[in-house]
Amino acid sequence: MIKHKLIKVNEEQKEFHLTNKSISYVFKVLNNSKQLEHLYYGKKINHSESFDYLIEREGRPANNLYEGSETSSFEHIKQEFPSFGTTDFRDPAFQIKYPKGDHISHFEYQDYEIYDGKPTIEDLPSTYTETDDEATTLCVRLKDQYSELYLILYYTIYRDLPVITRRSVFKNEDEESYFLDKAMSMSLDLPEKDFDLLHLNGAWARENHISRTPLSIGKKSISSARGATGPVHNPFIALARPETTEKSEEVYGFSLVYSGNFEAQVEVNTYNVSRVMMGINPFNFSWKLEPGEIFNTPEVVMVYSNNGLNQMSQTYHDLYRNRLVRGTWRDKDRPVLINNWEATYFEFDEDKILEIARESSELGVDLFVLDDGWFGTRDTDNGSLGNWTVDKRKLPNGLRKVSEEIHNMGMLFGLWFEPEMVSKDTDLYKNHKDWIINVPGKNVSHGRNQYILDFSNKEVVDNLYQQMDKILTHVKIDYIKWDMNRYISEAYSVNLESDRQGELYHRYILGVYSLFERLQTKYPEILFESCAGGGGRFDPGMLYYSPQIWTSDDTDAVERLKIQYGTSLVYPISSIGSHVSTVPNHQVGRNTPINTRGDVATFGTFGYELDITKLNKEEKNKVVKQIKMFKKHQKLIRTGTFYRLKSPFESNEVGWMIVSPNKSEALIGFYQVLARPNAPYERLKLQGLDPNKRYKIFPGSEYRYGSDLQNVGLLFSQNETTRKDEYWSQNNKSDFNSRLIYIKDFGDNFSD
Ligand code: GLA
Repeated sequence: MIKHKLIKVNEEQKEFHLTNKSISYVFKVLNNSKQLEHLYYGKKINHSESFDYLIEREGRPANNLYEGSETSSFEHIKQEFPSFGTTDFRDPAFQIKYPKGDHISHFEYQDYEIYDGKPTIEDLPSTYTETDDEATTLCVRLKDQYSELYLILYYTIYRDLPVITRRSVFKNEDEESYFLDKAMSMSLDLPEKDFDLLHLNGAWARENHISRTPLSIGKKSISSARGATGPVHNPFIALARPETTEKSEEVYGFSLVYSGNFEAQVEVNTYNVSRVMMGINPFNFSWKLEPGEIFNTPEVVMVYSNNGLNQMSQTYHDLYRNRLVRGTWRDKDRPVLINNWEATYFEFDEDKILEIARESSELGVDLFVLDDGWFGTRDTDNGSLGNWTVDKRKLPNGLRKVSEEIHNMGMLFGLWFEPEMVSKDTDLYKNHKDWIINVPGKNVSHGRNQYILDFSNKEVVDNLYQQMDKILTHVKIDYIKWDMNRYISEAYSVNLESDRQGELYHRYILGVYSLFERLQTKYPEILFESCAGGGGRFDPGMLYYSPQIWTSDDTDAVERLKIQYGTSLVYPISSIGSHVSTVPNHQVGRNTPINTRGDVATFGTFGYELDITKLNKEEKNKVVKQIKMFKKHQKLIRTGTFYRLKSPFESNEVGWMIVSPNKSEALIGFYQVLARPNAPYERLKLQGLDPNKRYKIFPGSEYRYGSDLQNVGLLFSQNETTRKDEYWSQNNKSDFNSRLIYIKDFGDNFSD
């Protein structure tokens, strides 16, 4: 047997066991048919000389036998990467169209390789390692029996996290071209159906709400066919046991590192086997693979937890903030920002911008972001996209002057772009009518009066690079908000041959990634925040290029409780763009106290999105306090372990907390949506503390042991009067109330 650090191979039986201290993943090569049979994925099991005991296929009818295969049809075999047409009638992981027009493939195991570390994927975002001992990668190579096509399955297991990443690669060593009509990143056959399917669904201004439904026989899939991941379904699913809570029991997470059309599907067959598949949406997808070419699918990050949803989320947070996010800002505190969008919309001039910036700088804000409306003649949303030159009517002294003034105030300066879009009133459109995505001669829809540039065309990407580069070389820009406000409807590129139209969606997103890459290579210091009409492209692919993402255009504190709670299922708190905005709220008209707005935004990147000059003195004092408070706890918020305690989807009271890695301090957010007269006492049981540490509770002068805080909890009552000071919100006999509690270990801990 060959023992690699995290991968054990039984050469004789051709069994592969990927294992670390918490998980095991086992599969083998079938003797006769040379197919890959899946044997186990879940909590760590002991390594065994033979895993034959995991094989389950006795007593099944042996009809539809594949010539030369094992005792049973492939329908009864749990597989690693199933094909169609060879006696498995479930959905396949891939489909290749052969020159004759058929889709029958037969890939057989060829060989394998094991590497230390984790290779990157050309042109696609992915998680990474910093040193080779952090992970081990297994590549299994299969060869088609009907062509010179190769399929390579990549598996990387991380040493210290319950994480396995998977992806597939297709390689054409033939002299013919073949069409990949479906190419999922991974497939997994779990031997049961006793799961709930969790996913994040929503719409504009109500992103990432958690949905949970029991699996049943048949197929359930979530997907996007909009050219971006979109706000309707996030590229994430989890299979949790019916009894799984935030704190306990099993859950399997699947998250796709991709920003384009995706599909995640679970198919439960009549034998209660659940086939999970994830990857590029096969709908309208077809990729011509020419001789000598390879096709890389995006990676799926699989997380296993047997301690509930919180542990799954903590694993994603840990991996994504440390080994997906990259660059200068990965490990740095992010600037507290103010964005002028909800303050001015399109109506501003230099004086107004500088007035907001000046006031904000005095209150402690670090970064001023100039949002939409600074270019062309953009007074409404019906023009100028694609004309990235400053509007001298609004900013007569140019962007450079604004940037200099703002830097002189001691602040950083950020700018909004929407590079993928064009308006018809621009030269860019007039000179290049064939640069928009549409089918010539057919109707082309617009969204927000704008059209989508064909980012599958390198010339288009070059043009946008040049336009943006010109600004970035002349003006000191520290931050870019990269927006994207509509989706691809009539998908067609005049730049692609008719048999390559099925490549457009994927080529489009590769073009988007390439522009990010080029800009970031030249300007590594710039902090990027991506955005798509709020959280319409909040996905791991974007996180690779932008350490923070605007979570939603809905800035109402109550709505944000659900949006941020759901987003935290996968994405680290340090990535969740969250701002305090004005009241009545522009999206829902609700009046929530400024404290509550601040207490919600604190669990994110933190900033403001209102006309700060219009706040009264008392509110400005609160802003100063909020910023001080955020900055004091910023490192804890950025690096701590996040626990969801009480769900806004289930109760009027909401709770969450962040504990520092050494458990010496924690910040707790507690929110009460509506006031409830003479209500039962609310106790919030904390998690993740050291039971024997004695923590001081702020505000107040109480000391409590971790064991007590976890088992008895913090009491929130309607009549609380004793703990009023800066950390408490207004009198709690009101709707939309909140409290932030900070606890810190001051020594004097318990020992037997
Ligand atoms: C989108 C964004 C907003 C703002 C506007 C500007 O809706 O989500 O934050 O930037 O565009 O047009």
